[in-house]
Amino acid sequence: MLREGALKDRVIVVTGGGTGLGRSMAEAFLELGASVCITSRKMEVLETTARELEEATGGKVLPVACDIRKYAEVEALVKAVHDRFGRCDGLVNNAAGNFISPTERLTSKAFEVIIDIVLMGTVNCTMAFGKHWIDAKERDKAVLNIVTTYAWTGSGYVVPSACAKAGVLALTRSLAVEWAKYGIRSNAIAPGPFPTKGAWSRLLPGELIERFDMAKKVPLGRMGEHHELADLVTYLMSPFAGYINGEVVTIDGGEWLQGAGQFNMLEAVEPGMWDAIEAMVRKVRGS
Ligand code: HXC
Ligand code: NAP
Repeated sequence: MLREGALKDRVIVVTGGGTGLGRSMAEAFLELGASVCITSRKMEVLETTARELEEATGGKVLPVACDIRKYAEVEALVKAVHDRFGRCDGLVNNAAGNFISPTERLTSKAFEVIIDIVLMGTVNCTMAFGKHWIDAKERDKAVLNIVTTYAWTGSGYVVPSACAKAGVLALTRSLAVEWAKYGIRSNAIAPGPFPTKGAWSRLLPGELIERFDMAKKVPLGRMGEHHELADLVTYLMSPFAGYINGEVVTIDGGEWLQGAGQFNMLEAVEPGMWDAIEAMVRKVRGS
């Protein structure tokens, strides 16, 4: 979508960048000329991804093992990025943890682990990179948080994730105002269903994948493709989006609005029935 070299000389950190959507975003940044740091807990996964992405794009990828729940490890991540690249221009808070469960089955620890990864992990990374930029008086920085549409609707069976993502959305909008004076933009995207191994194995395990066809929930009739999400993200992280701040962009084919609109069930009415329905309604008006 953007012209070649649009992110040249930029350095972007992608948490959870070894797998799934994080990996796809990292690849798109590299294709546009950025250097990228990918981070997660599993160094082996990160090293394999880094090698494959460097081969595919010719760009530079720094893999750093970091558990974003631990602030000291996040501070070491900031240092590793600066040691290697001498700068950092953007942070994509993409790492997450999630699984489906009736809420009453969860232990306190199970709830906590999701809040820790999703909310506290995002807070830790944002604080560590943000403080660095503010102290160094560096400007023109971008933070992008990956939330979901249930950050504002809520959702049963993924309640810790919904609570955590709602917190991340509040963080996004709060810092968009508070940190704008330092030249730091804060935005979010809310993806609908984009198949990844990490999400699908925890949200639609076993036969659930056949029972619940995610594409049927989407007005556009299909799931998202990774390059569609990557196009949006590269734009939001680029200087072309320099005046976008505090926004959450939904990219879900219309999924959440389909569930929200009170009369959207009329989609099930066969087109041939509308003449008769119209006649019935007009008759009421005339009576
Ligand atoms: C109930 C569970 C559970 C389950 C774990 N727990 N899985 N409880 N049902 N299925 C409980 C454990 O018993 C334990 O509580 C506590 O949670 C912590 O579990 P651990 O396995 O020790 O945690 P950890 O090793 O840190 O692993 C974290 C994880 C794991 C979240 C549980 O799945 C993970 O590493 N996930 C990372 C990747 C991921 O989740 N990707 C999907 C993102 S998709 P007790 O009390 O027993 O000690 C996404 C999509 C959003 O966010 C929207 C899609 C449309
Ligand atoms: P994924 O591949 O499982 O990505 C999650 C990543 O987070 C993994 O690379 C994981 O790596 C990393 N991670 C987990 N805990 C971590 C920790 N404590 N420290 C550092 N890294 C950690 O799933 P995905 O589908 O690509 O999800 C990516 C993002 O998109 C998430 O924020 C998710 O909520 C969001 N999202 C996805 C969808 C979808 O349809 N796929 C829809 C809406 C929103 P390790 O386990 O190796 O640490």
